[in-house]
Amino acid sequence: MVYHKGLHRYSVILAVCTFGLIFAGGLVTSTGSGLSVPDWPNTYGYFMFAFPIDKMVGGIVYEHTHRMIATVVGLLTVILAIWLGRKEERKWLRVLGYVALGAVIAQGVLGGLTVLYLLPVSISVGHAALAQTFFAIVCAIALFTSRWWDESSKFKDQNSKLEDLEIDKRRGVNLSWLSIGTTAAVYIQLILGALMRHTHSGLVVPDFPLAWGQFFPSLTPDAIASYNSRLIDANLWLAADGQVTAGQILIHMLHRLWAVVVTVMIIWTAISILRNRLLEKRVRVFGYYLIGLIILQITLGAFTVLTRKAVDITTLHVAVGALILITCVLLSLHAVKIYGVRRSPVVVPVAKKVENPFGKAIA
Ligand code: HEM
Ligand code: HEM
Repeated sequence: MVYHKGLHRYSVILAVCTFGLIFAGGLVTSTGSGLSVPDWPNTYGYFMFAFPIDKMVGGIVYEHTHRMIATVVGLLTVILAIWLGRKEERKWLRVLGYVALGAVIAQGVLGGLTVLYLLPVSISVGHAALAQTFFAIVCAIALFTSRWWDESSKFKDQNSKLEDLEIDKRRGVNLSWLSIGTTAAVYIQLILGALMRHTHSGLVVPDFPLAWGQFFPSLTPDAIASYNSRLIDANLWLAADGQVTAGQILIHMLHRLWAVVVTVMIIWTAISILRNRLLEKRVRVFGYYLIGLIILQITLGAFTVLTRKAVDITTLHVAVGALILITCVLLSLHAVKIYGVRRSPVVVPVAKKVENPFGKAIA
């Protein structure tokens, strides 16, 4: 592979801008500004970049800024696709550049449609999910164009020696599949989170870690009626949200329960990586990131509820969700590249004491 320093740096910058855009989009939803600009692609009849700055007030600040950042990210993606098309010799990576371009165009159209159709749940959830997917694609491109990726081939050769080790594979887990499974679990959680947000189910269960004082709240009509009156008493019931329904409580609880699955998967992946000292250092650091991010995310999730959806906390919860997805995607790509899919070692919960080919003994 020929390393193009400029191309790699450019894709890292695009990834950072995309993260900023996800934060800005999260602010639009958290502040309820989605319909502050009722038309699209124009803004109150103005061409987007000609919209007078003194008219940027209230929710327009969030919605219009989000659109402008999105347009910049879209243009940067066009340049990335062209650049990859001209310079990159790996065909699959050129194609990935076009996929990123297709995704950003589709994302812009979904953004526009969600405004024109007054924020229907399906389109808003699609817009939230595609945002995360697009971010993952851009980060993957940044990884594929890096020197790191190239260097990983060297580790691949070294790791064929791992095959000779007397590791009890029956008790170990295939690292590549474990990280791919964890990535899938996180992605499902992001969709459940988006569903919760756009069905206004974020505060239908106002306590944490219990849910209406129970492990799983009762969904009988009487119980739902009592939740509704308690929400009104606590001043949490907003006319715009209407009566809380059993469906909203179920969606909310699904997000909380799936969070347990995600947490177990992430901790399992992280601890397994960290315990296996045979793995490359660059793979093992992901273990620390994952543990730090999941602790942060659960704390933010809890405070999203307990602060009654404070704008900054809730938006950070969306953004850290994106970081967890990316960490899992990058870990999976590393694992597949270095260790392959079928013979991937070897996250070893219990390994016999063996001499490893790179020097250190492992327990
Ligand atoms: C690269 C393009 C874009 C990305 C990555 C992106 C990303 C996002 C994200 C992450 C959210 C928050 C979703 C949530 O919290 O559930 C959001 C919300 C939103 N975006 Fe975008 N967006 C893009 C383009 C656009 C465009 C072009 C529009 C044009 C109108 C738009 C309109 C909206 C609206 C109205 C919301 C609020 C939806 C709601 O409250 O239900 N977006 N966007
Ligand atoms: C496993 C870790 C978790 C991840 C990865 C995660 C991720 C997310 C994401 C990405 C969203 C927004 C989706 C979007 O609109 O784009 C969200 C929403 C939400 N999450 Fe989580 N979450 C996790 C755990 C939790 C926990 C433990 C709670 C605690 C109750 C929680 C409470 C919430 C709430 C209340 C919302 C909706 C906020 C609103 O209505 O504006 N999350 N989650």
